[in-house]
Amino acid sequence: MLLGRPVSSSLGVAAGPLLNSKWVEAYARLGFDVLTYATVRSTFQAAYALPNIRHVDNRELAAVVSRQANNGATIAVSLGEPSMEPDVWRKDVRRAKERIGRGQFLIVSVIGTPRPGGDAEALIADYARCAGWAAEAGADAIEIHLATPDPFVEQPQMIFENVPLAARILHRTRTTVDAPVLARLGAFKTPRLLHETATRLAPWAHGYVLVHSINRKVFDDKGAPAFEGHGRERADVVGAQTFTVAARQVAEMLAWRKAGAWDRAILAVGGISTVERAREVLREGADAALVATAALFDPLFAARFRQVRTAEVA
Ligand SMILES: Cc1cc2nc3c(=O)[nH]c(=O)nc-3n(C[C@H](O)[C@H](O)[C@H](O)COP(=O)(O)O)c2cc1C
Repeated sequence: MLLGRPVSSSLGVAAGPLLNSKWVEAYARLGFDVLTYATVRSTFQAAYALPNIRHVDNRELAAVVSRQANNGATIAVSLGEPSMEPDVWRKDVRRAKERIGRGQFLIVSVIGTPRPGGDAEALIADYARCAGWAAEAGADAIEIHLATPDPFVEQPQMIFENVPLAARILHRTRTTVDAPVLARLGAFKTPRLLHETATRLAPWAHGYVLVHSINRKVFDDKGAPAFEGHGRERADVVGAQTFTVAARQVAEMLAWRKAGAWDRAILAVGGISTVERAREVLREGADAALVATAALFDPLFAARFRQVRTAEVA
C-alpha cells in the first residue's frame, strides 16, 4: 500500500527521468510501480544550455568531473528545472494516468515559479495552482518540490529550510487539493533540523520524499566550473556515491516516525543504485524506494528487483 492505495511494488522512479506520458508508460512497463512525472510549473521554462549532466566524483570539498563514466553511477545535474506549457502537461498527465496499470501509482511533481517583484503570497498561490491542475489531471499524489532556492533571502537557502514558508506552501496546497500531498526535501544540515522541520510540516503533508540531492559546487579537473553560465556553479550531485548521506537522513526520518513523532509516509530517494540498496531502505521501513540515476542508466533495475522478490517468496 502507498498512501492508502494498493501498489504492486514499492519501487519507483523519482522526479526527473519521466519527462512525459511516453516515459511514464515505458517505465511502468519496465516494472517500476511508483512513477513520478518530472517537475512541472505554471509556465513554460526552458532548460539550461547543454551539457546538463556530467559524471563526477563526489569528493570532500566539491564534486569533480570524472574522466571515466563510472558506469553512470554518480552525476551532477544542472537542468534549471524546466517545464512544458501547462496546457501541454495538463493533458499529458491525464494520458500518463490512463496508460499505467492497476497497482501502479502516479505522482506529479510541481514547483512554484517566482515572478519578478512577486511576494511570498504569489509564490504560494502559484504552487497551489499547479498542484490543483495536477490533481485535476488525475495524479494519485502531488509532490511539492521544496528543495529549490528560496527567492526571498540573501543568504542562499532552500525553501524547505525556510520552515514558515514551506509550511504555508503545504498548507495552501493541502487545502486546495484532495489528493495526498508529499513534501520533497533536501539534505538537512543537522539531525535536529530534520526532526524540527518534519514535525512542523507534518500537519500539512501526507509524506516526505528525501533526499533530493547533495547540492554542491562542481568543478572540472582543472578547477574551472563544470557548468557554464550564471547560477550554475552549484549543481545537484546524485547517484551511487550519495547513498551514505541520503540513507542516513532517511534513517533519521524513520527513527522519528518510529518514536511516534508523527505518522507520515517516507519515500526514500538518493543513491539507490542497486537492488540491495532498494531492499535495504524498504526493510528499514521506507514506504517506497525511488531511483533517478539508476533508472536512466540501468532500466532493467526493476526487473531484477522483482526477480529477487519472486525468489524470496518462493
Ligand atoms: C536527469 C535528472 C533529472 C532530474 N530532474 C528532477 C526534477 O525535475 N525534479 C526533481 O524534484 N528532482 C529531479 N531530479 C532529482 C531526482 O528526483 C533525485 O532526487 C536524485 O536524482 C537522487 O536520486 P538518485 O541518486 O537515484 O539519482 C533529477 C535527477 C536526474 C538524474
